[in-house]
Amino acid sequence: MTSVATSIKLITREEAELKRNNAGSFAPQTCSTDLNLGPWEFDALADKLGMPTYGPGASMADVAPKETPRQGQLPQEYKDATDEELDQRILKAKEVLGDSVVVLGHFYQRDEVVKYADFVGDSFQLANAALTKPDAKAIVFCGVHFMAETADILSTPEQAVILPNLAAGCSMADMADIDSVEAAWAELEKVFGTEPDADGKVPVIPVTYMNSSAALKGFCGEHGGIVCTSSNAETVLTWAFERAQRVLFFPDQHLGRNTAKAMGVPLEQMPMWNPRKPLGGNTEGELQDSRVILWHGFCSVHKRFNVSQIEKARAEFPGVRVIVHPECPMEVVDAADEYGSTDYIRKAIAAATEPTTFAIGTEINLVNRLANEFPQHTIFCLDPVICPCSTMYRIHPGYLAWVLEGLVESEVRNQISVDPHVSATAKIALERMLAAKP
Ligand code: 13P
Ligand code: SF4
Repeated sequence: MTSVATSIKLITREEAELKRNNAGSFAPQTCSTDLNLGPWEFDALADKLGMPTYGPGASMADVAPKETPRQGQLPQEYKDATDEELDQRILKAKEVLGDSVVVLGHFYQRDEVVKYADFVGDSFQLANAALTKPDAKAIVFCGVHFMAETADILSTPEQAVILPNLAAGCSMADMADIDSVEAAWAELEKVFGTEPDADGKVPVIPVTYMNSSAALKGFCGEHGGIVCTSSNAETVLTWAFERAQRVLFFPDQHLGRNTAKAMGVPLEQMPMWNPRKPLGGNTEGELQDSRVILWHGFCSVHKRFNVSQIEKARAEFPGVRVIVHPECPMEVVDAADEYGSTDYIRKAIAAATEPTTFAIGTEINLVNRLANEFPQHTIFCLDPVICPCSTMYRIHPGYLAWVLEGLVESEVRNQISVDPHVSATAKIALERMLAAKP
């Protein structure tokens, strides 16, 4: 069984330093000793306790929502199989299935899984990749739950979307649930009413980050709202401000704040909404004066980045280019040279013509893959601690082999099916996003 310490090729700040100076040594650290366990150890625990659990790593402390799907136990033969046996079984199954299956891998997925993917990309690109394969009967999504839901919404009814491990959720997506958002909406309607102003703008429009449940996308579809990704958030907010006086943005406060700030919205006009407090913890006056109401969600991986890591990188590597993801806190984005989505980061590195040192603030699997792909550059993660997205980590080749071999036997395992009504309304919000052009 492969632990994360060996599965992730350890290219950290210290290793980059070694590469540059050929001096010093480091002991790689992980954010949790549990990362040495196989994902099925957690699934077995969940099964035994009758409770949902999240994977090892940064999200361990997060509260799992009551509706979290439970994976149940992976058959023993897959747990016992060596890496080589799993490799053979996956390749064989893929060969037998041919074009009837398409395997998608998110940028943050571990290399041992990504190597079987027919497409690798960000969540938006992968949703579109599913559309380009209408003849594939099954879409095996090696990402997290909200991505598989989006693929199900956008794919044809004949296609089955499969998530190899049902416990591969997203802790940030779970920070906004439909009940809390509906309750917040009812409170906001009491404060603002529902009538448009003299310019025809409604009081508030809901905007959800792609990293959210299908139910929230459906809520946006039903309430004149829209979906955004980290690569089109500014375009989407512009679309929303053309139609509304303000925006309710969920679940990621950081993407909302960083994007709106770059568009010139003052911080005083971005109150935070805490669903456990009346009016989200705000006064009516603060809400009336707001432009963007930020849900209190965040990503456990990206909140680990801080300004001192950037200062250290600059001190050690004069001329370093610091690029971070917009899910990082505002101070980090402000201190970086650039910020952008996973695809932006990849393109920025690919476009650099001179050997460059890059310090990157995003998930470690992507950073290490970029470091391997572009050896002419020195690329390292700003966080010296190995902390992968713990829910992506739940997808292991053992689960991939299990779902693919199921398909060979005409058995669809772990299908993600969005309720048809939710799917129809969520599709409206997704299509508004696809139609919104800069
Ligand atoms: P992308 O939308 O860039 O794929 O990012 C998804 C994500 O989960 C970032 O943390
Ligand atoms: Fe969710 Fe963060 Fe993982 Fe992205 S990196 S899937 S936001 S937990």
